Formats: sequence, C-alpha cells, structure tokens
Amino acid sequence: MISIRLTYLLALYTCALTLGHVASSHLLPTRSAFQFTEPRTWVENIAVRSNGDLLVTMLLPNASLYTLRRPYSATREVALVHTFQNASGLLGITETDTDTFAILSVRFTETLAAIPGSSTLWGLSLRRDRLRTWKIASLPHVQVPNGITAIPGTSAVLAADSSGGTVTRCDTRTGTCEVVLAARAETTPGTGDGREPTGINGIHYRGGDDGHVYWSNSNLASIFRTRVDRHGYLAANASADVQVQRVGRLDASFIDDFAIDDAGRFWVTVGHNNTVAALWRNGEVEVVAGSLADFAVAGCTAAAFGRTAHDSRTLYVVTNGALRAPVNGTTEPGKIVAIDTSAYR
Ligand SMILES: *[C@@H]1O[C@H](CO)[C@@H](O)[C@H](O)[C@H]1NC(C)=O
Ligand SMILES: *[C@@H]1O[C@H](CO)[C@@H](O)[C@H](O)[C@H]1NC(C)=O
Ligand SMILES: *[C@@H]1O[C@H](CO)[C@@H](O)[C@H](O)[C@H]1NC(C)=O
Ligand SMILES: *[C@@H]1O[C@H](CO)[C@@H](O)[C@H](O)[C@H]1NC(C)=O
Ligand SMILES: *[C@@H]1O[C@H](CO)[C@@H](O)[C@H](O)[C@H]1NC(C)=O
Repeated sequence: MISIRLTYLLALYTCALTLGHVASSHLLPTRSAFQFTEPRTWVENIAVRSNGDLLVTMLLPNASLYTLRRPYSATREVALVHTFQNASGLLGITETDTDTFAILSVRFTETLAAIPGSSTLWGLSLRRDRLRTWKIASLPHVQVPNGITAIPGTSAVLAADSSGGTVTRCDTRTGTCEVVLAARAETTPGTGDGREPTGINGIHYRGGDDGHVYWSNSNLASIFRTRVDRHGYLAANASADVQVQRVGRLDASFIDDFAIDDAGRFWVTVGHNNTVAALWRNGEVEVVAGSLADFAVAGCTAAAFGRTAHDSRTLYVVTNGALRAPVNGTTEPGKIVAIDTSAYR
C-alpha cells in the first residue's frame, strides 16, 4: 500500500484510539524469514513463483525487486533481481504467465509524494532463470497506483488507483490500457482518515466458479467484489450498472492488501494496527498475528500463500517496519514474515 503523501511516514503519530470492540484473536505461530538491515526499507507487495521462491517489491528507498529463494527452508537466501529505472518505488506484482510478472512503479517528489501520471507497468520474465524486463505501458491517467491482479488464461491485468479510485485493465501483450471501473464510493478514499486518503488498495481475481475481482478499500476497512468475465472485463463495462457487493468490514482505521485462501477466507494486513486478521465469509474477523505493541507483523503491507508442498499453508507477509504505527515509538527495517496457518480452522 501507498498513500498519496508518503511524507506522513516520516512523522510519528499516535494511532487514533478507535473506541470500537476489540476483534477476537487466535494467534498463530510467526517467524521472520528475512529482514533488511537498512532502516526505512518498505517492502510493499509479494508474488510467489511456481518453484516456491518469493518475489517482493520495494517501495522505499528504491524501485528494487528482490527474491527469497526456498523461503520455507533453513538454506533460504535473498537476492536482488532488478532495480527499475525511471521509477522511485515499486507497488503491485502479479504473475501473468509461468515465471512472467507484471509490476507497477511510481515516481515520488523529493518530499515522497507520488507524482500523478508517473506510473509505469513493467513486464519481467524469469523463464529458464534468465532475467528479462520490458516496459508494457505508461499509465498517465493513474494518480497513485497500488495493487494489480492477473486474469489467468489471458494476457490481461487489472490495476488499482488508490487515489483516483479506478480500475484499469491492461493487455500486457499489446500495452493497451482502459479504465474498466470508474471511481465510485467503494473504490475512492473515505473521508474518515484525512491523514492518509487511500481507497482501493489490494486487488485479487478469483477464477473458477467464483468469477469475481475482490479489492480492499483502505479507509473503509472493507473488502468489496464485483463480477468479471473471463477476459477481465467487468460485467457492465464501467457503466453505473456495475453491481458491487461489500464482502466484509474490519474494525480498523486502515487496511492494506490481502490474500484469499482455498476456502475463500481473506487474510488481511491491517497495517496501522500492526496485525493480520482473517475475515470469514460470514463476516467474522479474527486477529491471527501481531498487536499494536508488537513487531511480529508490524507495518504489514501485503500477504501471499506459499505454493509448494512445504508451505502451501504458510502465509508470507511483507512489512514496512511499522513506519505508520511505530511500536512504542520505534520502527525497524522491512521484512518478510512466515505465519503458519496449518492449525487454523
Ligand atoms: C485495531 O485496533 C483497534 C484499536 O486498538 C481495535 O479496536 C481493533 O479491534 C483492531 N482491529 C484489528 C483487526 O486488529
Ligand atoms: C536500494 O535499497 C536497498 C536497501 O536500502 C540498498 O541495499 C540498495 O543498495 C539500493 N539500491 C540502489 C540501486 O540504490
Ligand atoms: C519516465 O517515466 C515518465 C512517466 O513518469 C515517462 O513519461 C517517460 O517517458 C519515462 N522516460 C523514459 C526514459 O522511459
Ligand atoms: C466490454 O468491453 C469489451 C471491450 O470493449 C468487450 O469485448 C466486451 O464484450 C464488453 N462486455 C460487455 C458485457 O459489454
Ligand atoms: C511496548 O510497550 C508495551 C507496554 O509497555 C509492552 O507490553 C510491549 O512489550 C512493548 N513492545 C516492545 C516491542 O517492546
């Protein structure tokens, strides 16, 4: 996730005392799989390769993509994959074909504000373990890019604009992009948290019998969905007739990205709470990792499940080291955390 004015992250502030009920919790085992050593490293998003290696995007301090090989093993190792040019930071990443990824970048001003129209969609291939990168498209209409999701079996991706509140569909083969969901209440920033106006943030397509695209709206602390056809077009093509449903809402002032498990539950990174929470289809919410006063998943930004037999029930979570809600006034470098969800029912 990213806010319109990243400058806020440099100012420590006290978290709003939300006087709601405290979500019930069922804490699962967590361990840090890797941590950067430099302060103010913000790990923003995560994708998992078919061989099980993780790919994580860095938002701060530069537009680098890193890999964590064999994240489930004692011999795991981290390596820089690529640093993108003409970009200040990276955001969403999604797999468009085996070992082929689409990645969003943005440029910041010197005061770390995202520059509207500075976003680029990149392609990256690791096929046969050879690195190749290319520019797919510039996104001049996007203000603050954020999450991205592939439509499996096609070359289409859907990309979220957290400030403009739109969803853009791009064909990664031709570079043609078009807005398929216009700004509306469920995608634009809410008015509740004026410090950090962020609407649509994470976005994930669920194929098969489901056929919906799901997204988080940070300020509304909610997950929404709408139906998409198998080419990645919304059922009513950006018209006012698009039917959007709220899937659930969390008791928080801000949520970030999320992962969906096989059972259709949502694993939500509740960035400003320094927690990860499971949202069930019936609306029930349970905190599964972290707390405001704990570094376990502090500043979590996104999550993804492992793809090998060793870690298919491990949820990998990336963090910005609590830059938004410092733990007792302290931050730490960004990291990758593994949460063992195998005992969760
Ligand atoms: C977030 O923090 C608030 C304030 O402490 C608390 O009431 C709420 O239950 C927390 N929610 C989650 C999902 O962590
Ligand atoms: C990007 O940031 C990382 C983490 O601070 C640092 O190790 C790396 O050298 C930086 N790369 C460039 C090209 O500046
Ligand atoms: C750099 O990105 C901007 C958009 O922010 C684009 O207009 C420009 O063409 C890019 N420059 C290069 C050399 O790719
Ligand atoms: C939406 O637009 C696309 C491209 O213009 C088209 O292929 C598709 O059939 C349209 N779908 C509907 C439901 O109108
Ligand atoms: C933060 O402060 C609280 C209350 O004093 C304490 O329980 C907690 O362990 C502290 N956290 C860390 C990471 O030191």
